Parts: sequence; structure tokens; C-alpha cells
Amino acid sequence: MTARVLSGKEFAAKFKEDAAKRARALEAKYGVTPGLAVIIVGEDPASQVYVRNKDRACAELGIYSEVIRMAADTTKDALLAKIDELNYDKRIHGILVQLPLPEGLHAEEKAILDRIDPAKDVDGFHPVNVGKLSLGEPALVPCTPSGCLKMLELAGIPIDGQRAVIVGRSNIVGKPMAQLLLAKNATVTICHSHTKHLAEVTREADILVAAVGKPKFITADMVKSGATVIDVGINRIAPKKLVGDVDFEAVSEVAGAITPVPGGVGLLTVAMLMENVVTAAELQLAEK
Ligand code: GUN
Repeated sequence: MTARVLSGKEFAAKFKEDAAKRARALEAKYGVTPGLAVIIVGEDPASQVYVRNKDRACAELGIYSEVIRMAADTTKDALLAKIDELNYDKRIHGILVQLPLPEGLHAEEKAILDRIDPAKDVDGFHPVNVGKLSLGEPALVPCTPSGCLKMLELAGIPIDGQRAVIVGRSNIVGKPMAQLLLAKNATVTICHSHTKHLAEVTREADILVAAVGKPKFITADMVKSGATVIDVGINRIAPKKLVGDVDFEAVSEVAGAITPVPGGVGLLTVAMLMENVVTAAELQLAEK
């Protein structure tokens, strides 16, 4: 079998189109353009690229965007003061602090992210949003897992009653992905580095999500024939060579559907961020 390849580009274009339409509707109703502020501290080269992509997506969709660049030696207090300012800024509906923070601020990451007003937390990392997601209440949800779910739905992949296995238990992908699939009535298992007989568990999956950060970790013998395989990994194995957590060549001979890397889930993340900015703006404007 050769798997159907789920192209991130196609789905991202559709998500962005939806977000742009909703942004125009807000402008028509309230005369307000949704706004995103991204704070980047230091000079991490990968982060510079991500932030540029976010800024470009805003421009493309007609979303107001501010990029706030702060020096690598910025203090915790200075960063918190900037977040407070943005929390009160009426033009800004979404705030994102780009990770990773420079080494000097690593220990302060939680305090910094928790300072963002949950209503503006477009990363969905704030404990209030994490709690709401786990309670099944409307929340701002982390962009990568919400993009994966929306792609599965749009691609017509059944979720209800299906067995979903997620490899990786991060707060950013694994855990929220599990909550989202559970809310859609999948039977969900989360595997991690201590899981025994991993391949036996992954072979049970109708939907297999790989989010471990290890190049080509998921091999063909770990996948059930016809399964849908979502690859969230982005691993740089050479200066210009990115691979996912899934051995794409071999697994696409077994799977029913698969996302490539690059050109897969990564493109959905920015598109879902745009959607989260619009959702945050809708909720804030409706409350006035
Ligand atoms: N760095 C890499 N991915 C992300 C993300 O989704 N959000 C933030 N804030 N930083 C990141």
C-alpha cells in the first residue's frame, strides 16, 4: 500500500482563508483588526525564522502584528513589564513569547508564560487554558495539536471510537493532543520513554501521532496497515536536511495516510496561531 500524503500546505491554506474571513467579519462588526504581539528574546537563529514566518502570515491575512525584540541579557522584570504592557494594550488580542528563552531566563520560563493574560494566551500554555481544555471547556488550545485535529477532521479521517496512540508526553503537543482526541471520542494512549513494548502499543493505533523529537524513530514495523500517521517531529540531521520522527519512506508503504516532513504539520502551526489570534479577538470583543 502507498499511503495518502496529507499535505500541510493545502490544509494550512484553508485554515488561513477561514481565519482571514473571520478577521474581516470582526472588522465589519466592531471596527477592530485582530492583533498579535510576538516577543523574541535573544538571537536564536531558528526562532528568528519562526518569528518572521508568523509576522508574514499576519501580513498575508490582514492581522495587525508587532514583533518585540529584546536583548539576550534582558531581565525577568523587564520582560514581565513588557508582558503587562501588552496585557493592557487594546490593539493586541494575542501575545506569544517565543521559546526557547535565553539560558539566563530558562528557570523563569513558567513565571513569564503565566504572566500572559489567559484571554490573550494564543499559545494555549497558560494553566487556565490547560485546565479548560482538560475540562472540555472552550479554551485557547496549543497550535500544533489543534492543527493536527482540524486536519484529521477536514481529511475525513474517522476519530470517534478509533484507537489513537501518541508517542511523546510534552505539554505543548502530546498532552493537549490526547485531550483533543479524547474529546472527539477516540480511545487514547500516551506512550513515552519509559513505555514497555512500545511497538506492540503503536501497532494498535488507527491514528498514530509521533512527537518525540528523534529522527525516524517510528519504523514500518511499529505501524498497523492502513493507519493514519501524523509526524510532529522536526529534526535537523544536516545543515539543510530536515526529517520527522517517522521513517517516511518505509512507513508510507504500510500506512493509509501520512504527513510528510517538511511540508506537513509544521505549516499548520502558524495557520492555527492565526486562528487563535482571531478567536481571542472574537472573545475579547464579545465581552465588551
Ligand atoms: N518555539 C517553537 N515552537 C513554539 C511554539 O509553538 N510557541 C512558542 N511560544 N515558542 C515556540
